[in-house]
Parts: sequence; structure tokens; C-alpha cells
Amino acid sequence: MSDVALRLAVPSDVPTLERWDRAEHVIAVSGDDEPWDWPREIDVPWQEVWIGEVDDRPIGVVVVLDAAGEPTNYWGDASGPVSPGTCAIDIWIGEPEAVGRGYGTAMMKHAIDRAFDAHGAHTILIDPLVTNTRAIDFYRSLGFTDVGPRRFGQDDCLVLQLRSPHQGETHRLTPIPGEAKRIPRNPGETH
Ligand SMILES: CC(C)(COP(=O)(O)OP(=O)(O)OC[C@H]1O[C@@H](n2cnc3c(N)ncnc32)[C@H](O)[C@@H]1OP(=O)(O)O)[C@@H](O)C(=O)NCCC(=O)NCCS
Repeated sequence: MSDVALRLAVPSDVPTLERWDRAEHVIAVSGDDEPWDWPREIDVPWQEVWIGEVDDRPIGVVVVLDAAGEPTNYWGDASGPVSPGTCAIDIWIGEPEAVGRGYGTAMMKHAIDRAFDAHGAHTILIDPLVTNTRAIDFYRSLGFTDVGPRRFGQDDCLVLQLRSPHQGETHRLTPIPGEAKRIPRNPGETH
């Protein structure tokens, strides 16, 4: 198996990201969320969009975002946002022939390292549809544990979490000098 290399998404990736959104195996597990507005998604300061490449060909995407800082309060509830230091991850392998070859595992490990090591998060959250048992198995195999069912809009999801191995350290979702892209808190930003 070739290795998967990770790089940040750039505007020329937008057509590929939009094509993956329309892929049958992605639609089957996507729920009723609004479609991703990729030109904007790759540009907001509170998330990183990483493209996985195998032999210089994009095969999938993993998104690491500041769940407490993103402006729609998706992860929060009526009582407010989730606690600062909480990240969320979204992932899909867009090219169907690249599914089930270990690339998703490598991409998730990269995203987990970004959340805990680069951004000092204490917790990572994910929200597969309850029907997406394959993804749920995948997340559990990476150490995620069940938080419980939750309805997001029309979607019945299972929330899972992974706690940082650096528990007790002060978290910092703040700019890291010299980084090309980061996830600072920016509560004033609108979507
Ligand atoms: C979920 C997804 C990201 C996993 O990435 P992947 O590259 O296919 O997964 P990997 O090859 O790294 O497999 C890792 C683990 O996933 C699970 N898995 C992989 N293929 C599986 C299959 N056919 N059936 C059940 N579980 C499977 C297993 O736990 C596997 O561990 P193993 O290697 O010990 O068997 C990918 O399959 C995908 O993008 N699926 C469609 C979109 C999606 O569901 N995204 C998640 C939305 S929440």
C-alpha cells in the first residue's frame, strides 16, 4: 500500500471536493446537512481542510475544526457552545476505490495529532449517522468512545469522543507562530 500524504486544501481542490460530495458512497452516509460551501470552507480561520493524497492523487478529505469557536454553534446547544478546547473532525474518502485500504486510519491519526498536539484540544467530537455502522466501527477502532445519540437537524447521529492523552495540560486554541493555517478562536466571525 502506498502512503497517504496530507496537505492543506487550496482553491483548485474545490471541483474535486464538490465531486466527492456527489459520490454515491458519500451521499449514502451524509444525512440532510446543507451542502458544503467549499470555497468558503477552505478559507475560514476556525478549521483546517486537509486533502489526503496517494501517489500525488487526491483521494479524500479530513476537516479539523474548533467546535467551540465555529460561529453556527453546531456542537453547542441552547445553553451555549461546547467548552473551549473542543475540536470536531469530519472525514470521507472521496474516491470509492480508495475506501478500506487504511488511508482513512492514517488521515484520522493526522487529524487527531493536529487537534491535540498543534491546537491543544482536550476533546475531539465526531457525529456519524447512527446508521453508518462502518464509520462508527472505524472511529471506535481509533479509540473513540460513545457519548450518545443526538439529533442534528433531521439527522439521527451517534456522538463519539476522544479525550486528549495530555489531560490536565492547559489547552490553547490559539495561533501557533509560523503555521500556515491554524484554528484560533474567532467568535465574532459569521459563516
Ligand atoms: C469511514 C472511512 C473514512 C474509513 O476510512 P477507510 O480508509 O475506508 O478505513 P480503513 O481502511 O482505514 O479501515 C479502518 C477500520 O475501518 C473499519 N472498516 C474498514 N472497512 C470496513 C468494512 N468493509 N466493514 C466494516 N468496517 C470496516 C474497520 O474498523 C477497519 O479496521 P481494520 O483495518 O482493523 O479492519 C471511509 O470508509 C469513508 O470515507 N466512508 C464513506 C464516508 C463516511 O462514512 N465518512 C464518515 C462520515 S461520519
